[in-house]
Amino acid sequence: MTPLGRRLARRIRTQGSLSVAEYMTACLFDPAEGVYTRADPLGREGHFTTAPEISQMFGELLGLWAGACWQAQGRPARCLLIELGPGRGTLMADALRALALLPAFLEAAEVVLIEASPGLRAVQERALAGRVVRWADSLDDLPEAPIFLLANEFFDALPIRQYLKTPEGWAERRVGLDEAERLRWGLSTPLPGHPPGLTPAKQAAPVGALVETCTAGETITGEIGRRLRTHGGAALAVDYGYHPSTAGETFQALARHKTTDPLSEPGRADLTAHVDFEALATASGATAHGPVDQGRLLQALGIEARAQTLKAKATPQQAADIDIALRRLTAPDQMGRLFKALALTAEGAPAPPGFPA
Ligand SMILES: C[S@@+](CC[C@H](N)C(=O)[O-])C[C@H]1O[C@@H](n2cnc3c(N)ncnc32)[C@H](O)[C@@H]1O
Repeated sequence: MTPLGRRLARRIRTQGSLSVAEYMTACLFDPAEGVYTRADPLGREGHFTTAPEISQMFGELLGLWAGACWQAQGRPARCLLIELGPGRGTLMADALRALALLPAFLEAAEVVLIEASPGLRAVQERALAGRVVRWADSLDDLPEAPIFLLANEFFDALPIRQYLKTPEGWAERRVGLDEAERLRWGLSTPLPGHPPGLTPAKQAAPVGALVETCTAGETITGEIGRRLRTHGGAALAVDYGYHPSTAGETFQALARHKTTDPLSEPGRADLTAHVDFEALATASGATAHGPVDQGRLLQALGIEARAQTLKAKATPQQAADIDIALRRLTAPDQMGRLFKALALTAEGAPAPPGFPA
């Protein structure tokens, strides 16, 4: 058992079982032992890698996507360019470099990074040295203005809850202890009615089905939608997930690039769940575009042409690496189909680049 596991076992013994959301929050953000607080979980030495870490093309194209939305919406004189969960700051660094092509947007935009991990904030500071950016804890701390918002693999890291439909009604899946004081799965007694936040498809799931809800994600898209409706702008969330909403277990643990049992190494394995794009879009109250496959979006934004330009100045080894990265990001058997992109705008706003009008 890890040190965090021993602490969680003590907490469960004295205070009772934990919801999956409480368990996830402790494993990811415990101030001493959380995956995101102890170390940098991204990259070869960490638990997982992400699209911006695979190639600069990803952040460049997403940055230009935000700039193109700003242009299409009448170039507001003041706006916010926001990234949720910026990891190592790579996406934003690549985006800002590409946006040198659109200096008026950089002039209009205040750049804000919303990051919960103090350790990753320090990594982001280094990646963005020399840029004028600021950090915030949540969207609630930001001024009222049009928003152009990017979020890659942010929503999958937010805490979820799980519910099992039993013949007696919904019961919540919880983390408790076995006789040997090891963490083990358990179930609450049946709840009255439907749990909060279930989409109609999840409510209608058959007995025996397990469903997941992500209230934190829906609260955030609710605030994004409010800002889009009030001030305009556009938001882009890229993640692994599903649409339409459906029952099924997607909660998973990844330690050192391999899947593992979510209860076996608390604080030493990354915990995530697939994103319910329908639930996020509905909670936003905004106009949803897509989701479209990541591969399709990047192709529409010009990733092939960008790869050719980079290869023109590359060594043979670098050119081969660019081709490998291009395939990883776009091929249907790699990240191209598993990852999807959802865009949100106010009703009547122009369809964002890469999304059918
Ligand atoms: C899976 S990583 C993705 C990092 C980056 N977007 C990328 O693509 O490389 C998730 C990021 O979201 C941050 N994060 C998770 N929950 C958060 C929250 N509630 N508020 C702010 N940041 C959060 C993590 O610290 C981390 O930076």
